[in-house]
Amino acid sequence: MNVLGIESSCDESAVAIYHTERGLLADLVHSQASLHGPAGGVVPELASRDHLKKLAPLIREALRQAEMQLSELDAVAYTAGPGLVGALLVGTSLGASLAWSLGIPAIPIHHMEGHLLATGLSAAPPQVPYLCLLASGGHTQLVWVKAPGDYEILGHCLDDAAGEAFDKTAKLLGLGYPGGAPLAALAEQGTPGRFQFPRPMLNRPGLDFSFSGLKTAVATLVAKLEPLNSQTKADIAHAFECAVIDTLVTKCKRAVKLSKVQQLVLAGGVGANKRLRAELTAGLQPDAELLVPPPSLCTDNAAMIAYAGAQRLSQARPPAKVKVRARWPITELDAVLQ
Ligand code: KG4
Ligand code: ZN
Repeated sequence: MNVLGIESSCDESAVAIYHTERGLLADLVHSQASLHGPAGGVVPELASRDHLKKLAPLIREALRQAEMQLSELDAVAYTAGPGLVGALLVGTSLGASLAWSLGIPAIPIHHMEGHLLATGLSAAPPQVPYLCLLASGGHTQLVWVKAPGDYEILGHCLDDAAGEAFDKTAKLLGLGYPGGAPLAALAEQGTPGRFQFPRPMLNRPGLDFSFSGLKTAVATLVAKLEPLNSQTKADIAHAFECAVIDTLVTKCKRAVKLSKVQQLVLAGGVGANKRLRAELTAGLQPDAELLVPPPSLCTDNAAMIAYAGAQRLSQARPPAKVKVRARWPITELDAVLQ
């Protein structure tokens, strides 16, 4: 079965085709980073307009790469939330109307569930029950996966998400938007130990996260030291990255001990961070194994949406209505899009 995936929840227009036996046949991502860069963050209206321009040509190109016709598609999966409502509406309207015109099922997908399932594209899927650390630009959640589609949130961010903290700190250091990857690259040049930032919420019980205090600590230091030379910027980036990673690793270890699972999946854009991947792999030993998709499948893509759609093919129905949800808890998958 050929599943077309469409992702348009934020600032990436992405299209993929996943075949249930042959795997990924096409996987295209168009980043809007240069469009939003001057504003220092995503401008929702610009994002919607750009999705409108890019998605149809991307579908044509994906079909060309997969060497197939529209008529050979068996289902269309698209991100229906959470995300920017206008941006979601572009992909959802296109996906649902394409499915309707072809007489095939339309499958609305939860963006964070797409991230959560993405490891299955590169390796054997984890065995339930397992844990997932979802760390993206808008979410930081520790999710207990009891069965496919049955999720319980054990911990979440009380303020800024991990990716948001990376982006805001990168902005303070003049690194542009989105800042996670450039900040991580700069941190590699940093001098270990020159600066030390607080590890938020580590001395409190529980599995929740809070990163806004850390960002404030960076802002205070930057204001004190300005103007910053390039080595000082790198040293701050290093200390910031260590503080975030230390916090994430400690909470994951705690969650593994509590839930006694043997596998933890790392997913979402922050999962592309090399140091986090290495420290989490080491930190979970010997209690649990870390599963993580390649970096390109951690950040936003449509392969994960097509793959999530393929997992839901048995529940897929003809499209009934176009409905999106800007906020959508992953624990309410069934309630929303009926
Ligand atoms: O999952 P994602 O692509 O989009 C959302 O669903 O939000 O995550 C984007 C976030 C951004 O905040 C970006 O700065 C961060 O992931 N990110 C990183 C890295 N690559 C992307 N953060 C830290 N290290 C990275 N290498
Ligand atoms: Zn995402």
